[in-house]
Amino acid sequence: MSDIYKDDQSEEWYFSRDSYVLSETDDKGIILYANDIFCRLAGYTLEELIGEPHNIVRHPDMPRIAFKGLWDDIQTKGFWRGTVKNLRKDRGYYWVDATALRKVHLDGRVTYLSIRRVPDRAAVEACIPLYAELKAQE
Ligand SMILES: Cc1cc2nc3c(=O)[nH]c(=O)nc-3n(C[C@H](O)[C@H](O)[C@H](O)COP(=O)(O)O)c2cc1C
Repeated sequence: MSDIYKDDQSEEWYFSRDSYVLSETDDKGIILYANDIFCRLAGYTLEELIGEPHNIVRHPDMPRIAFKGLWDDIQTKGFWRGTVKNLRKDRGYYWVDATALRKVHLDGRVTYLSIRRVPDRAAVEACIPLYAELKAQE
């Protein structure tokens, strides 16, 4: 069985519970690396992703405040965790439980890593109305 699959009834995509969906960005959020399952889940090749801003997978249902929290937290605390709806290249979407981390290299350079796992369905169901309300307030 494949480690990613689409719901027949909707545009939602899912990935297997034992997968880690990874990406790394520079300090501005430009993608430096994405693992194979990230590429396939998002529907892009690695070549298409490298050098692009990470908002390439931003879904229009995501409220701006969620990403403000991500950027504030990774810069001040060094980590952030949240439930995110992402957009595929083909307009499909997928939900993730994302943990983003700051990585300080020996030369002082800063990059950010995000490790995504399958979210609890209850967390997704709670985020749907919350994000809709936050969007409506924008
Ligand atoms: C390590 C890392 C991973 C990120 N992963 C995602 C992601 O999976 N989906 C997403 O929409 N934004 C992600 N972002 C946030 C984007 O950089 C961006 O802030 C967000 O998509 C909002 O787009 P905007 O800045 O154009 O409003 C990530 C940022 C970092 C630093």
